[in-house]
Amino acid sequence: MSDIPKDDFPTSVELVPATDDDIPEVVRLTNLAYRGSDGDSAEGWSTREKYLTGDRTTEKLLRNDLSVSPHASLLIWRLEGESGIVGSVWLEPQGDGNWYLGSLAVDPARQNGGLGKKLLSLAEDWVRERGGRHINITVINVRETLIGWYERRGYYDMGEREPFPYGDDRFGVPQRDDLCFVKLQKKLV
Ligand SMILES: CC(C)(COP(=O)(O)OP(=O)(O)OC[C@H]1O[C@@H](n2cnc3c(N)ncnc32)[C@H](O)[C@@H]1OP(=O)(O)O)[C@@H](O)C(=O)NCCC(=O)NCCS
Repeated sequence: MSDIPKDDFPTSVELVPATDDDIPEVVRLTNLAYRGSDGDSAEGWSTREKYLTGDRTTEKLLRNDLSVSPHASLLIWRLEGESGIVGSVWLEPQGDGNWYLGSLAVDPARQNGGLGKKLLSLAEDWVRERGGRHINITVINVRETLIGWYERRGYYDMGEREPFPYGDDRFGVPQRDDLCFVKLQKKLV
């Protein structure tokens, strides 16, 4: 867990677009954050239940996602005085003031110290500065603690559900047959 006190972050905390050289580190961070420990690393609080196995992403998939989504931004976050990436997030305009936010990830070794809240707020600033008015997120239905975390940050359940893509293992290998995506939205002010 981070030893940085909540609300006392280094001043240089802006998000920057990932370069191609950053992709391997983003992939490692994302897979660790979403799937938990690799044996050498800490396990994050939000991933203890194993409802999916397999990697969340790969370098090939992420590069492909970027090439087919030219308006999307993969943003990374480094803290002042540190070389490694502590967090990353995908942001993509959907038209009419709506933006999709996905793949929000904080290094599991640094979670539960306020970094996730700060990263989410920086991502919201990024969208706001580009004229966005709503942020849309999809979360797998069984992740109640994560849904609660977003709700405490102003996101609400739109009542819409999207089917889980069973049979397409690029999202991981499902361990349950009752998965779907819950759509959450926040109105930016
Ligand atoms: C979601 C994520 C980005 C949050 O990052 P973080 O640095 O841990 O977040 P913060 O430190 O700001 O907040 C920690 C929160 O977890 C809560 N928490 C900690 N341990 C918990 C537990 N065992 N059960 C439930 N909640 C817990 C804390 O109470 C705190 O919430 P609060 O401030 O509203 O009370 C991070 O956990 C992550 O990368 N998860 C894996 C990837 C993922 O699921 N991303 C979202 C996909 S939509």
